[in-house]
Amino acid sequence: MSVRRLADDNVQPASFAFTKENADWAEATINKYPKGRQQSAVIPLLMRAQEQDGWVTKAAIESVADMLGMAYIRVLEVATFYTQFQLLPVGTRAHVQVCGTTPCMLRGAEDLINVCKKRIHPEPFHLNETGTLSWEEVECQGACVNAPMIMIFKDSYEDLTATQLEHIIDRFDAGKGADVTPGPQVDRIFSAPVGGLTSLNEPEAVAKKAPARAKKTEEESVSVPPSNAAKPKTDAVETDPKLKTPATAKAEAAANAKATGDTRAEGGDAAAKQPLAEAGKPSLEDKNRPAAIARPQTPDDLKLISGVGPKIEGILHELGIFTFAQVAAWKKAEREWVDSYLNFKGRIERDDWVRQAKALAKGGEAEYIRVFGKKPR
Ligand code: FES
Repeated sequence: MSVRRLADDNVQPASFAFTKENADWAEATINKYPKGRQQSAVIPLLMRAQEQDGWVTKAAIESVADMLGMAYIRVLEVATFYTQFQLLPVGTRAHVQVCGTTPCMLRGAEDLINVCKKRIHPEPFHLNETGTLSWEEVECQGACVNAPMIMIFKDSYEDLTATQLEHIIDRFDAGKGADVTPGPQVDRIFSAPVGGLTSLNEPEAVAKKAPARAKKTEEESVSVPPSNAAKPKTDAVETDPKLKTPATAKAEAAANAKATGDTRAEGGDAAAKQPLAEAGKPSLEDKNRPAAIARPQTPDDLKLISGVGPKIEGILHELGIFTFAQVAAWKKAEREWVDSYLNFKGRIERDDWVRQAKALAKGGEAEYIRVFGKKPR
């Protein structure tokens, strides 16, 4: 099992945003879970981020954490635990995951790994010369009966020989991976014996001999309610979902420091006070910066605007933006300033924050539903 760490900063993109289609899908997926259980959407959201960008970036992890109100460390734990998540850029046409666990190893996984070393790169997690292929060794993929096997993205290819794997790699490298039928590469149906059934091959006789299933007692049938057993019972500051990663959200480092009683960053760290100027963001003194107001007693819930999560709302508050009416009044130059400040790459226009804010300012959720035909997020 390889050590799983985030890619170096020099290959990490500065930001992540779901496309409109994926953002809608993510919203619908989050809403499938009962109230208070939205964090259960973490794996599907990370998978969608990977399908969108090819791999899971640090910015994607933080974005998903913000969407689900989770501490960054919690989403990082999930992303680094499951080998289905690629933490480095992978081949654009195929990333070959070779199972190296005992059953596959006994049935020839080493031959498959040697093919990958020869055809792709001597080392795992390295791209081939054209950037189309990469490979890694993974743990059991649950197809041991058809060992040895590989996964490419979401499909498995089983009962492989080295020659067959070379052929599969060729097809994918040529952009014709769809030519290869996933599943067993020998004459068998799924995991049935090669050459046909050797037992349980008289279904009628089997059905006659099978004992009737005992009916469950009422007690056995009672469903088990969800429990909080898996939730950490701790007051440790690292588990607080409100805390952000100082490395990428420097604007919040000072707030973190304040929350944790660390006065170093709060008082003396110039970077924490002026992080955005350092990052090449527009100046806070720029004339196009939207006018700020004092925090009202009850600020509007800016998170109702699609595209604004808890993190972005916090930044808007820092800028003195607390109401829908303020956002609704932004002119083009102001929208561009905020977009640039948030490194959003045009998302404010794409998500049409101004129209959303106008509807929310005018009549709250009811007006939003009337205008957009759906509830705000
Ligand atoms: S050991 Fe390879 S799939 Fe289980």
